[in-house]
Amino acid sequence: MLGPVILAASRSDRMRRLVTAAPVTRQVVDRFIAGETVDDVVPIVRDLTAKGLELTLDVVGEDITTPEQATAARDAYLLLIDRLGALGLGERAEVSVKLSMFGQALPDGHDIAHRNVRRVVEAADAIGTTVTLDAEDHTTLDSMFAIHEDLRRDFPKTGCVIQAYLFRTEADARRLAASGSRVRLVKGAYKEPAEVAYQDKREIDKAYVRILRVLMDGDCYPMVGSHDPRLISIAQELAHRAQRKPDEYEFQMLYGIRGEEHLRLAAEGHRMRVYTAYGTDWYGYFMRRLAEKPANLRFFVRSTLTK
Ligand code: FDA
Repeated sequence: MLGPVILAASRSDRMRRLVTAAPVTRQVVDRFIAGETVDDVVPIVRDLTAKGLELTLDVVGEDITTPEQATAARDAYLLLIDRLGALGLGERAEVSVKLSMFGQALPDGHDIAHRNVRRVVEAADAIGTTVTLDAEDHTTLDSMFAIHEDLRRDFPKTGCVIQAYLFRTEADARRLAASGSRVRLVKGAYKEPAEVAYQDKREIDKAYVRILRVLMDGDCYPMVGSHDPRLISIAQELAHRAQRKPDEYEFQMLYGIRGEEHLRLAAEGHRMRVYTAYGTDWYGYFMRRLAEKPANLRFFVRSTLTK
């Protein structure tokens, strides 16, 4: 029951001010956010790749309100890609972007976000890596899918995310499965109304399995984004039945969550990619992580009160 309340708070400016000013927030945030700057994150990229893991890097931020902020977000990604290229890490680390951070909600936002993300995709391609477009709330998805389709004409490896909790997703999955795209399937992390999304955890899990089967049986490159042990073993079984080789799908999990499982899957010979977020505008990302597991909220409140 706490999850929806936290998700509502994730879009409140008042809560943002309270949480980001709390005395020990940084200590709790550090579990999920790999640092504030590119310099902070580079040692983590080196460490995880040395352990046989791959990464997708996210510069945290979303829902910006001015074109200047969108340009700054784009430039933060260009700086990251430049650094990955200079260090020769392009093959092991790709990037994930949120189009709302690139200006999608501004007037003419679709075109602004499209222009900004294209620059990032071009830079990523130049160092031999790829970009995945994260899925945000359902009102943004038609625009995201249109941008994804357009980018794929020039950069076919550009990926996108689909969310199992949305009713629309099975149809999106069929389209993407036939297109040869890279597709990350996740359960979905936003507060969505009952008109568009399953609310019941079991229904979401059932939808996840149905959609995963579509992806595994299709021509696309499935990226299984989940920490759920049951879904991970179902994914292994579906990949096996579809006769996919280990380099024809991958698992993805978030930095700070079930780290031992990252290593176990990599040791078993699976491709395992860690979604690693860093930056200063961490509020929305952090609140979604709290909402996914109420125990995280208890830890956060306890450490704030005992300070
Ligand atoms: P579930 O929530 O059932 O968790 C399974 C188990 O994992 C839990 O029992 C717990 O042990 C552990 N766990 C999960 N979340 C935890 C947390 N926050 N803290 C501690 N333990 C936790 N969503 C979205 O809407 N758009 C997107 O673009 C993305 N992108 C994305 C990329 C990647 C790589 C991942 C793994 C996830 C996303 N998500 C996302 C988030 C996703 O929608 C979902 O909210 C989380 O992955 C949690 O769902 P699980 O599948 O892990 O299952």
